[in-house]
Parts: sequence; C-alpha cells; structure tokens
Amino acid sequence: MASNKISPVKSSQAGPSKTVFKEIHPVKYRKAAILPRVKLFNRVKWLLKEKYHNKPTRQFAKDIQRLKNGEPRDYVIGFVEFLGCKINLSKKPLIPRPETEYWMQKAIDTVSLNLNGRPNFEVKILDIFSGSGCSGVSVMLHVKNTKVVFVDKGKKCIDQIKINCALNKINKKRYKIITSDVFSNVTGKYDYIFANPPYIAKTSQKKIQKSVLLYEPKMALFGGEDGLFYIRKFLKKACGHLVSGGKIYMEFDSIQKFAIEKLINAYQYKNFTFYKDQYNKYRWVVISN
Ligand SMILES: C[S@@+](CC[C@H](N)C(=O)[O-])C[C@H]1O[C@@H](n2cnc3c(N)ncnc32)[C@H](O)[C@@H]1O
Repeated sequence: MASNKISPVKSSQAGPSKTVFKEIHPVKYRKAAILPRVKLFNRVKWLLKEKYHNKPTRQFAKDIQRLKNGEPRDYVIGFVEFLGCKINLSKKPLIPRPETEYWMQKAIDTVSLNLNGRPNFEVKILDIFSGSGCSGVSVMLHVKNTKVVFVDKGKKCIDQIKINCALNKINKKRYKIITSDVFSNVTGKYDYIFANPPYIAKTSQKKIQKSVLLYEPKMALFGGEDGLFYIRKFLKKACGHLVSGGKIYMEFDSIQKFAIEKLINAYQYKNFTFYKDQYNKYRWVVISN
C-alpha cells in the first residue's frame, strides 16, 4: 500500500497559496485504518491554512466536526489541485485521484507533442465519465488548440464541470458539456477520448474505504457485478467515435487487465498498451484503431 506521507507539490496559478502540500492517497479507494489522531491533526492544520488562511472562524469549528465524522478532507476544503488546475468539489463529484492525475499528465504530454510544429491544427477531445471535469479542464489549461466535449450522466456533475471550466478561465468556445448515458447523446469523432468509467466490482464493495462509500457518489464508483458493465458499453462504441489514428486513454482496476484485453480484442481494436500507475499497479490502457 502506498504511504500516506505528506509531500510538497508545485502550486498552480489557480491555487490559493504558493506551496500546496498534497497528501498522497492510499492506493485508489482501498480500505484504510481508522483515522489516526496525527492524521486528523494534520488535516485540521491543512484546513486552517488552506481554507481559512490561518484565521479560525465558527465555520472552521463545524468543518473540524466534519473531518472527525470521517468526511473526506477534500470535500471539507472544497477543492483539490489537479495538474495545476483548481478543481472545485462543491457538487460532490468523485474526488479526482492521484492515479488519474498520473496518466492524465502522460496524456497531456502526448497531446502537446502531437500539436508540436502544427500551430493551426486543432485537437478534438472527448472527456467521457467526466465527473468534476478534471481531465478535460487540465488538458485545455495546458494545451492550446484543444477543444473538449465533456460527457456525464449526473446532473450535479454537469453543474460541477461548468463551475470548473469557469474557475480555470477556460474560454466557453473551447468546450461543450453533454448529459448522456455513455455514448447515447454523443455525436462526432475525436482525436483523443479520455475515460475513467465507474469500475469497482460490486463484489469488491467490502474492500472499499468507509469514507468513500459514505460520501462519494455510488454512481461514480460501481460498474456492476464484475465492475466491467460501463467498460464493456464504452469499448463497444468508442471505436466509432475515434478518428483514424486517434487514441483512447481508459482507466481501470488492475485485476481487470486480462478481461479488458479480451474485450479490446473482441471489439477488434488494432493496437493497445497497458500501463502501470505510480504505485506499480496496472491502471490505464492506451488503445488505437
Ligand atoms: C470514476 S468517475 C470519474 C470522474 C472523473 N473523470 C475523474 O477521473 O475524477 C465516473 C463518472 O462517470 C459518471 N457516470 C456514471 N454512469 C454513467 C453513464 N451511464 N454515462 C455517463 N457517465 C456516467 C459518474 O457520474 C462519474 O462522474
């Protein structure tokens, strides 16, 4: 299991302070021990600095209670940093995870490289299962000449994406936000598709951290009995929304690697490569047609 150490990361122009200390989450969603006192103390210290700028108020006392109750720190603070973007969490979407940040950084590098030396070329990106909008917002913030279509089924997520695009000062001409059950309302073809579908198997529910189960949206977490319900639906149709030579980046749970490989072959995609996350677990796949 990854450690819970506190490590400094670079702040963004959108962030509230010069140095932001980011707690490294345990491996995605995994059950953790009961919040130890020292961890609670660190979270309170963080909260006071980041949200209250070291000036405690009545609301600060209420927030401490929320932390004691086990509510995720990021909801209490109200935002997270994601690849230099400030991501507001007021509508309680899934809290973006460091594993997603890790592969999105690689995706952004690839998109930038693709645009290198082609100043008039425009890249069309689909951020499906977008949640807070962290993936689409970060690629637009870092790579000029990108346009993003966000897709989510949840009404609150649609509102959250609007908030996050505005917060990060993304020009409205660069994005569209669509309510859709996977691809049902999606049209057109894209150069890149970024997907982080709900993929936890119902049978794995017992292994999930209590605070995740209590506070994060179930709709963002579970993918049916085997966790592959949305992955199947997604892979079946994604090929039809990819330009020739386009790329899909899809996140999954490491135990699903073999099943996903079979699905990719069954849907006759030409190329694919599986990658490990920063905790040495298979976490995402890049697929092309
Ligand atoms: C694992 S979260 C990913 C959120 C975000 N992309 C991230 O990486 O933090 C999955 C998202 O899929 C959305 N979702 C669930 N079922 C869906 C469906 N049938 N069609 C479209 N989106 C769906 C959920 O609302 C949730 O926001």
